Amino acid sequence: MFFDYVKEERTMENIPKTVAIIMDGNGRWAKSRGLPRTAGHKKGADRVRDIALEAQRRGVEKLILYAFSTENWKRPEDEVSYLCKLPGMFFSRFIQELMDNDIRVTFAGEIERFPQNTRDVIEKAVRQTSHNKGMELCLAIDYGSRREMLLGMQKYADEVAEGERKNDLSEEEFSSYLFVPEDIDLLIRTSGEVRISNFLLWQIAYAEMIFTPIAWPDFDEAALDECLKEFAHRSRRFGGLVDEN
Ligand code: FPP
Repeated sequence: MFFDYVKEERTMENIPKTVAIIMDGNGRWAKSRGLPRTAGHKKGADRVRDIALEAQRRGVEKLILYAFSTENWKRPEDEVSYLCKLPGMFFSRFIQELMDNDIRVTFAGEIERFPQNTRDVIEKAVRQTSHNKGMELCLAIDYGSRREMLLGMQKYADEVAEGERKNDLSEEEFSSYLFVPEDIDLLIRTSGEVRISNFLLWQIAYAEMIFTPIAWPDFDEAALDECLKEFAHRSRRFGGLVDEN
């Protein structure tokens, strides 16, 4: 009993610093309700607000959400066009709440490939929240992990060729060439699919992973709390041994 108490005390503090989420299942959620796929994305954007606020409340330092992959450009034009409008719709509704909660917005990916108005709203949200000191909410948009690594290594190769640095890259320095330099503590994918889909391949080397059947539009605060609870009970050894005392 006493030991259970001690364990609970310890695990309550064991909050992942960096959480990444593959927000999957918007389309299926909508289809199962006889709605257009875009209705799933709209509800999904509302969930971004709920989950960001809950993650901030729980003490997560950085939340990275996979909002648009490099492969998503292959979707039908009307869906791509809707996805490009989502950041604008999202920030016009929720920017004040993000400010009130001291949340800092950033993005990871090749934002320059988006239409000008999409870029404008994202860059405005980044500027507006840049002095906030709470959680970082990072939207991965036009993001692909392989491309992220290629772009980083092209930059590195240029620096070496120009004599700006030696060819002596460490793992830490490799990370610094990426859009997301941090290691991920917890990766969650919603909607039952069990794959990584080119998301943060380098950064998840030692991440704990949770694949939940819940579709993203239904993934609420309680669902996130369940994942945090599960994380707290995992024993992370990073390839070594753990002290069981
Ligand atoms: C995957 O579900 C989801 C996406 C491709 C889009 C995710 C975007 C959001 C949740 C909103 C983003 C919000 C902001 C603020 C930018 P899917 O369409 O592949 O679902 P399916 O597998 O059921 O078809």
